[in-house]
Amino acid sequence: MRQKIIAGNWKMHKSRADAVSFVQELKNNLGDTRVDVVICPPFTALAAVAEVLAGSKLALGAQNMHWADQGAYTGEISPLMLQDCGCRYVILGHSERRQYFGETDGQVNQKVKAALAHGLLPVVCVGETLAQRQGGLTETVVGSQTAAALAGLTPEQVAGLVIAYEPVWAIGTGQTASEQDAQQVNQYIRALLAEQYGQAAAAAVRILYGGSVKPANAASLLAQPDIDGALVGGASLKAADFLGIIQAVG
Ligand code: G3H
Repeated sequence: MRQKIIAGNWKMHKSRADAVSFVQELKNNLGDTRVDVVICPPFTALAAVAEVLAGSKLALGAQNMHWADQGAYTGEISPLMLQDCGCRYVILGHSERRQYFGETDGQVNQKVKAALAHGLLPVVCVGETLAQRQGGLTETVVGSQTAAALAGLTPEQVAGLVIAYEPVWAIGTGQTASEQDAQQVNQYIRALLAEQYGQAAAAAVRILYGGSVKPANAASLLAQPDIDGALVGGASLKAADFLGIIQAVG
């Protein structure tokens, strides 16, 4: 039985004060939940959010990182720095990083390996564009992004990963993939991992769905057998919506 995860990716939103008041509200209203809840604020709010989350069931994640421990990489943040801020998770290879910052499959792979080497749990994002979906390339694209991101990992490492299937056309558009389409791709990813890393690793890896998840569609998406949680963007910015998604799942 895989533990479900609801992760909020705030992207480039919220001041430190807004971030702190959000997580305080979340903590006060979370109640008993069976899901792992992860908050991924911008770098500038990580330390402040970590203080509020200390001792709670909520986990902290970052939205990106460099693969090197340190060095002359102006503007970058290292795995050690994320650990220092109390991060447990790190989102890697988000389509916005790939699209706007030219992040390649090879870089995502370096980041995944660095995160694991430092005890951070990667949330590896994969997903096709609308043109690729319309061209019948969804499985080809998602398959090759997944294989490249995980290249060189052991089955044990793969078993502990989190993968997020995020169709690019569904991100921030209000156009959610149907639960059948999302299930089909997540199942495909799991089957691919079973071929490459064995059944045990494939059965353990958690595969999320992301793309316009909201309280109204979370329950039906997460009822699918291969959808182990959600990576939530827009709806993670309001505590009431994010709580609604967590409560819809249990
Ligand atoms: O990381 C989160 C995804 O990009 C989904 O964003 O929920 O605003 O569509 P969204």
